[in-house]
Amino acid sequence: MSNRQRHGKLIVFEGTDGTGKTTQRDLLGRYLQGIGYQVVITKEPTNGPYGMQIRDLYSNRNKYSREEELELFLADRRQHVNDLLLPNLLFDKIILCDRYYFSTAAYQGALGLNPEAIIALNDFAPEPDLVLLFQAHLDIGLTRITAGRKETPNNFEQREFLEKVAAIFAAIKRPYIRKIDASGTVDDVHRLVVGHALELLQPALAATMD
Ligand code: TYD
Repeated sequence: MSNRQRHGKLIVFEGTDGTGKTTQRDLLGRYLQGIGYQVVITKEPTNGPYGMQIRDLYSNRNKYSREEELELFLADRRQHVNDLLLPNLLFDKIILCDRYYFSTAAYQGALGLNPEAIIALNDFAPEPDLVLLFQAHLDIGLTRITAGRKETPNNFEQREFLEKVAAIFAAIKRPYIRKIDASGTVDDVHRLVVGHALELLQPALAATMD
C-alpha cells in the first residue's frame, strides 16, 4: 500500500503482559471517538482460526516447535492485515491494535530467534504510525495477572521469559516508538497515551498543550 492510498492511521499497543495495554487502548478509543474520529479497535492474536490455534498453544507450548509457533503468529497476522488492517487504512479510520509484529519479535525472539529477522518476515504488514511501548516492572504485570484477573500466568507469562521479552522490546529502535511508563494510575497513563496520539493526529494542537 503506498502512502497516497493510505488515509488511516495505525496505532499499536505493545509491551509485556499485565502492563495495561488493553485498558488504555479502549480508553483512547473512547477519547478519540468523543472528538470525532472513526476508530477501529482490534488485537492480535485475533479471534480467527489461527488465533484460536494460538490459544491452544498457550497451554500446550511443547506441542509446537518455535518455528511452527512463529508461523502461526505470521499466518494470523496475514489474515488480520488482509481482512481488517489494509481495508480500514484505505479510509480515514484510526486503528488501535493491541499487539503487532513487535510482539512477535520480542516473544518469539525470546525463544532464541533473531528479533530483526522476525520483523523482516513481516514485510507484508503495514508499518504502524505510532507504537506505544508499555513498560512497567515485571512484578506489577505478574501481580495484575494473578491477583487482578485471577489467572495463573500461562507459558508465555513466566518471569524469566518475560525478562527477555522486555529486554528485546526495549532494544527495538524505530522512529515511531514511544515508551510509556505504565506504572502510574490508569488516569496518568491515559494522559501520556492521549498526548502521543494527539502528537500524531493533531500536531498543532498537541504543541499548545505542552
Ligand atoms: P494477549 O495480548 O495476552 O492476548 P489475550 O489476552 O487475547 O489472550 O496475547 C497472548 C500472548 O501471545 C501474549 O503473552 C503474547 C503472545 N504473543 C506472541 O508470543 N507473539 C505474537 O506475535 C503476539 C501477537 C502475541
